Amino acid sequence: QPLVFSGIQPTGNLHLGNYLGAIVRFVAMQETHDCIYCVVDLHAITAQLVQPELKTQIREVTAAFLAAGIDPKKHIVFNQSRVVEHAELAWVFNCVARMGWLNRMTQFKDKAGKDRENVSVGLFAYPNLMSADILVYRATHVPVGEDQKQHVELARDTAAKFNNDFAERIAALGLGVGEAGGFFPQPEPLIQGPATRVMSLRDGTKKMSKSDPSDYSRINLTDDADTIAQKFRKAKTDPEPLPTEVKGLEGRPEADNLVGIYAALSGATPEAILADYGAGQFSRFKQALTDLAVDKLGPVGAEMKRLVADPAYIDAVLKDGGERASLRARKVMDDVKDIVGFLR
Ligand code: TYM
Repeated sequence: QPLVFSGIQPTGNLHLGNYLGAIVRFVAMQETHDCIYCVVDLHAITAQLVQPELKTQIREVTAAFLAAGIDPKKHIVFNQSRVVEHAELAWVFNCVARMGWLNRMTQFKDKAGKDRENVSVGLFAYPNLMSADILVYRATHVPVGEDQKQHVELARDTAAKFNNDFAERIAALGLGVGEAGGFFPQPEPLIQGPATRVMSLRDGTKKMSKSDPSDYSRINLTDDADTIAQKFRKAKTDPEPLPTEVKGLEGRPEADNLVGIYAALSGATPEAILADYGAGQFSRFKQALTDLAVDKLGPVGAEMKRLVADPAYIDAVLKDGGERASLRARKVMDDVKDIVGFLR
C-alpha cells in the first residue's frame, strides 16, 4: 500500500526553496496518495539545543502546510515529538546503521565543519531519526528537495539491513510483505519538478537556506510584497541579457536559478519563459518574476500570519494528527519489538 511521508524542520525562515522543493509537492501528492506530513521538532534541536522560539516555529511550519492547501482531515499533520515511536525506532536504527554510513553523510560534514568533536551526538545520529520517521509508518514515497536524497538512500539501506539481519524472525512471525518478504519497504525519494534545488539569490552556486546570514539570499514565505520586490531587484545576475534558448543558461547559475523559480511558480516550461523574456532586459524579467511571486506567495504568507495569530486551531490540528499518527506508529513498533525480541 503506497504511503507518503515527509517532514520539515521548525528552525525558522521557511523559504521559497522549502515551498517549491517540498510543500508544493506535498500538496500535489494528496490527490493521489495517503499522506503524513510532520513538523520534525526532534530534528530541530540537533544543531542548536536551546531555542526560545521553538513553539512558535512549530506553529509556523504547520501554518505553512495548512495555508498551502494540505488537508489535515484527509491526511495527517502533526509534530514529531508527540509520537514517541519515532525516537524509539530511531534507537533501534542506531544499532542497525553503521558508523561508516553516517560518516559519509554530506549534510553532517557541512554542518559539523571542522569542529567534529564539539557537535551533538544528535547531529551525527540525525539520519537514523529521519529513517525512523519514514519507516515507523512503513512509508513508501518521500517527496523532498535534492539535498535530502542521500538521507532517504540511507533509510533504504537501513531498511534493507534490518530486513536481512532479521529475515528468519520476520518469516517465522509471518510479518514479511511482498515477494522479498521484508518487514520494511524500500522508501523511494520523490525529487520532482523544476525547483528541486533552489539556489541563493546572492550566489547561484549556494543552496537557498534557512541559516544563510543574509536575508537577501532567500524569499521567506512571510515576506511582504515590497520585500519580495526588493530581494528580486537586488538578486545577483550576470551582465548578459537572458538567453533565448535553454542551453544558453549553462554556466550561468544565477540566471538559471531565476528561470527555474519562474517555471516552478508559473507552471510554464523554461523554453516558453525564454521565448518571452530571452534577449530582453533582465529588469523586465525580474519585474515579471516579482509580480508572479507576489501573486502566488502573498496569499500563503497572509494565511500563515492569520493562522499563527490564533494558535488554538493549529494546536488542535497537531493534537488530532498526533493521535492518529500514534495509532499507526504503535502497531509498527509493536511488530518491531517482536522481531527484535523485546518482551512487551
Ligand atoms: P529541511 O527542513 O531542511 O527542508 C525541508 C524540505 O525543503 C527542501 N529544501 C529545498 N528544496 C529545494 N531547494 C532548496 N534550496 C531547499 N532547501 C530545503 C528539503 O529538501 C526538504 O524536503 N531532514 C529534513 C527533514 C526531515 C525529513 C524526514 C524529510 C526529517 N525527517 C523524513 C523527509 C522524510 C530536513 O532537514 O529538511
